[in-house]
Amino acid sequence: MTDHVTARETRLTSGATVVVAGNYDEMSILAAGIVARHIAEHPGTAITLPTGETPRGMYEALTGMIRGGELDFGTIEFFCLDDYLGKGINDETSLTAWLDKAFLTPAGVHGPNIHFVPTLADDPDAAAKAYEASIEALGGFQLAVLGLGPNGHIGFNEPGASIDSRTRVVDLTDESRTQNAAYYDSDQAIPDKAMTIGIGTLLNSPRIVLIVCGSSKAGILRDALQGPVTAEVPGSYLQTVGERLVVITDPEAASELVLD
Ligand code: PGA
Repeated sequence: MTDHVTARETRLTSGATVVVAGNYDEMSILAAGIVARHIAEHPGTAITLPTGETPRGMYEALTGMIRGGELDFGTIEFFCLDDYLGKGINDETSLTAWLDKAFLTPAGVHGPNIHFVPTLADDPDAAAKAYEASIEALGGFQLAVLGLGPNGHIGFNEPGASIDSRTRVVDLTDESRTQNAAYYDSDQAIPDKAMTIGIGTLLNSPRIVLIVCGSSKAGILRDALQGPVTAEVPGSYLQTVGERLVVITDPEAASELVLD
């Protein structure tokens, strides 16, 4: 990865900062830098980070820092953002298994401070409430890094999700199931239900970072940041948090934003 950062920063009318990195690698390094600084400055706090193709480079950068002794991931409480109902770390097509392969195992990050979405619980609704309660018990998230789905979802808060939603079981759209099937070299079906941390839980964080890359996300990123705030585009709720939001993109994803 290059460390030559050529990012351009703009303030939106919502108060959010948009940082357009020169390319995907720079986007990843910038996002990893925010996470690393946060961990160094706020030990003991709760954070959440996303899974998916977008954050792969961020995890690679974090893994390098951890392996190089620059970053200790054991000092924060890390909560996985979402996963399929009935699938856990031992299911190859779970998001937790994806995270394990892309980050936890290469970085040697394991322990009681890594919290997995309780998708295997006998009573998923009660388990979702308990997951929410354990985040709240730590004072809520102090940092939430999020990706943006092609349909505007954040976590698995699909179109229609309410702004004050909490950790819960949700129905997945076919679009999200098809999108995520591409993460795995497997013909196993992607379930039609998931558990996700809620929008309200995420929006309470004093620092929210949205990372978005690729031309296929340009339209939905414009809708999320500069379209109407609507349940049809859950990412648009991020406009309500003002300057607590930092968006880091590559030039392709930013190509439809109106930036001064
Ligand atoms: P992606 O997923 O990074 O694989 O595009 C983003 C998301 O759905 O949140």
